[in-house]
Amino acid sequence: MEKVALVTGGDRGIGRAISLALAKKGYAVAINYRKNKDKAEETMKMIEEMGGKAMIVKFDVSKRDEVREGVKKIIDEFGRIDVLINNAGILGKNSKFEEIEDEDWDNVLNTNLKGAFIVTQEVTKYMKKGKIVNIASIAGRNGGTVGVHYAASKAGIIGLTFALASQLAPNILVNGVAPGPVDTELLSEEKKRELSKLTPLGRVARPEEIAHAVIFLLENDYVNGTIIDVNGGRYMH
Ligand SMILES: NC(=O)c1ccc[n+]([C@@H]2O[C@H](COP(=O)([O-])OP(=O)(O)OC[C@H]3O[C@@H](n4cnc5c(N)ncnc54)[C@H](OP(=O)(O)O)[C@@H]3O)[C@@H](O)[C@H]2O)c1
Repeated sequence: MEKVALVTGGDRGIGRAISLALAKKGYAVAINYRKNKDKAEETMKMIEEMGGKAMIVKFDVSKRDEVREGVKKIIDEFGRIDVLINNAGILGKNSKFEEIEDEDWDNVLNTNLKGAFIVTQEVTKYMKKGKIVNIASIAGRNGGTVGVHYAASKAGIIGLTFALASQLAPNILVNGVAPGPVDTELLSEEKKRELSKLTPLGRVARPEEIAHAVIFLLENDYVNGTIIDVNGGRYMH
């Protein structure tokens, strides 16, 4: 029986590229979405056209009851979860520090950080052996340019990855990928142009280039507690 992967926010953007890459590797993929059912259906169709197996599961990663129910649905349909990709994430409404309101802060932290905590806790009730990859960001390394709330959430994801890597070992390996700017709908075209100029490679990443790093982490059995930077040389350390 094939292995099963859950990708949060797997319907579009980086999550879609990861879902497709996993399907190519033979995983049955549970594609999570929150709002864009049409995108989730499109991604599922793409996987089925490749001869793969997928299901769609709707939940908001920040809502415990929805996540619990969604994870149960995957177990009922696919029987297990071997891989979890905590990918769902949002930018805040404002990027200027002085304009960030409490509600905006809470939305960003609840989705990007608490969401990964909740989904991981619910999934590991069933995952006795497996792998988790958290999608962080260059912003969690260098502060980024899109707001302190976003940067704090992504630095939090890096800390969460380290802590889980020691607590869930040896049966579950936990790593992360920290992308620089990527060609998705998260960033405006103007922002992508601005960030391309600041990147030694002179362009933003393609979502597939992030998925490639995820696949490496899933194929390696000794890397644990590592964050792979995929940022075109925009941040080196
Ligand atoms: N793009 C970049 O430049 C960049 C750089 C570094 C890191 N990242 C990180 O990479 C991840 C994916 O970003 P992306 O660029 O692919 O963004 P995107 O194209 O805007 O897609 C965001 C995804 O997250 C899902 N999502 C948002 N809030 C959710 C929630 N509460 N519950 C469940 N799903 C939710 C969305 O689902 P719906 O479609 O249903 O709304 C969508 O699938 C994020 O964690 C982001 O922070 C992105």
